[in-house]
Amino acid sequence: MRTVKAVEFPNPDGAIAAMLVTFQVNGRSETVDVSPDMPLLWVLRDVLDIKGPKFGCGISRCGACTVHIDGRARRSCTTRVETVEGTEIVTIEGLSPDGSHPVQRAWEDLDVAQCGYCQAGQIMSASALLAEIPQPTDEDIDLAMDGNLCRCGTYLRIRAAIHEAASLMASDAQGNGNGASPDAPPSDGGDR
Ligand code: FES
Ligand code: FES
Repeated sequence: MRTVKAVEFPNPDGAIAAMLVTFQVNGRSETVDVSPDMPLLWVLRDVLDIKGPKFGCGISRCGACTVHIDGRARRSCTTRVETVEGTEIVTIEGLSPDGSHPVQRAWEDLDVAQCGYCQAGQIMSASALLAEIPQPTDEDIDLAMDGNLCRCGTYLRIRAAIHEAASLMASDAQGNGNGASPDAPPSDGGDR
């Protein structure tokens, strides 16, 4: 475990307001020494140097900053760090050790990303959905992904990739070693 201190800044009274907050990030215990109202997104990106979660709107309206907190998709831009004491946080960097999570494989199979800026948040929301609903309907997907915006308009590919990921997960659960769904195109096994 390590303790990481944020760059200090004075509060309006001139005193340094900070507290220790301890939580798990991608399987590693972290203790940060920061202002308790600092957004989790700032802590991840600027204190812990975890750059996968992105800043888009800062007001829970775009989904670019989405991470898992205790298994649920959450907007880190509006999550005060003091509220994550003792939780387990997963970012896109920790979703799988090698990019082989079914959602990541489906995203690659279907070439979902365009500019890519929103995609970490999209993948984190999609993976949280599939953990809760392994075979979601279009309506389930639209509801779960509603708050994840994509200025490149990749929504149809995202929906198709979530169905594809559901098939991959089912195939994996049945012990299919290569993880390919019956309808999936062959993987080229290339770099991830
Ligand atoms: S940056 Fe958090 S929802 Fe937009
Ligand atoms: S891929 Fe460009 S914003 Fe979504």
